[in-house]
Amino acid sequence: TLPAHFDKPVRIAVIGGTGLSKIDGYTPVAALLPQTPWGLPSSPIMIAEHNGIPIAFLARHGLSHQLAPHEVPARANIAALRSIGVRSVIAFSAVGSLREEIKPMDFVIPDQIIDRTKGVRPFTFFEGGVVGHVGFADPFDAKLAAVVERCAAAMQGDAAVLHNKGTVVCIEGPQFSTRAESHMYRSWGGGVINMSALPEAKLAREAELAYQMICMATDYDCWHTTEDVDVAMVMKYMAANSGNAKNLVGAVLDELSKQEHSDMVMAKHWEGSAQGAVKFM
Ligand code: ADE
Repeated sequence: TLPAHFDKPVRIAVIGGTGLSKIDGYTPVAALLPQTPWGLPSSPIMIAEHNGIPIAFLARHGLSHQLAPHEVPARANIAALRSIGVRSVIAFSAVGSLREEIKPMDFVIPDQIIDRTKGVRPFTFFEGGVVGHVGFADPFDAKLAAVVERCAAAMQGDAAVLHNKGTVVCIEGPQFSTRAESHMYRSWGGGVINMSALPEAKLAREAELAYQMICMATDYDCWHTTEDVDVAMVMKYMAANSGNAKNLVGAVLDELSKQEHSDMVMAKHWEGSAQGAVKFM
């Protein structure tokens, strides 16, 4: 029943992960399902207005969480967001903690990724005659990270702790890791572990978007002396933390919507970094 088109370009997007398939408290004004050369996105892109500024929201695993991590159409998702005008993306993800000090319910703003996906997922726009090589030394956007960091002050509840740095190990899944792998990732300096940072972050970089992930710890994976991770544990902590997530996303959107036309939100610093190889813009 929502309109399938929206006239103004939408600059800011939120990608919701497990346990965050919609953002409560926002009234959607349109639901867009752009067809891209890489197919349809995971879910209709909901457009809501925040202080009069349009915000796009996309449920990474689909509206009924029907897509496993390796089935997420990441190229269609990023291309669809880009096609409606998006330049800045805040992406949420439930993660396991690989560090004692990162407790379940804590938030982490990662600044690095270790790729442990297996090449199963389509991971680039640049093929079939389109050649491009983007830098990926720093896979996230430091400017967006700084905004998230400032907004963390808006989180309520004594459990709301935010870690400003960390390496996310992205595994292929859908199975969780073995204990030996979990210990190995710790020895590599991994801070948290998920199945969703890639190829999303790589594709965002190829599309010249500013992209920052916000991780929410739901478990200690299987290296810790506490219980091993399972889906029930992830869902339980996500549900318990949805209030904090909502506060954080609200504060971040306040800040980004105030700066809708700024060079930061417009990702001017990434313009040209893919040598114009992206054809869908
Ligand atoms: N997502 C949430 N917890 C996880 C874990 N322990 N490993 C991989 N992905 C996760």
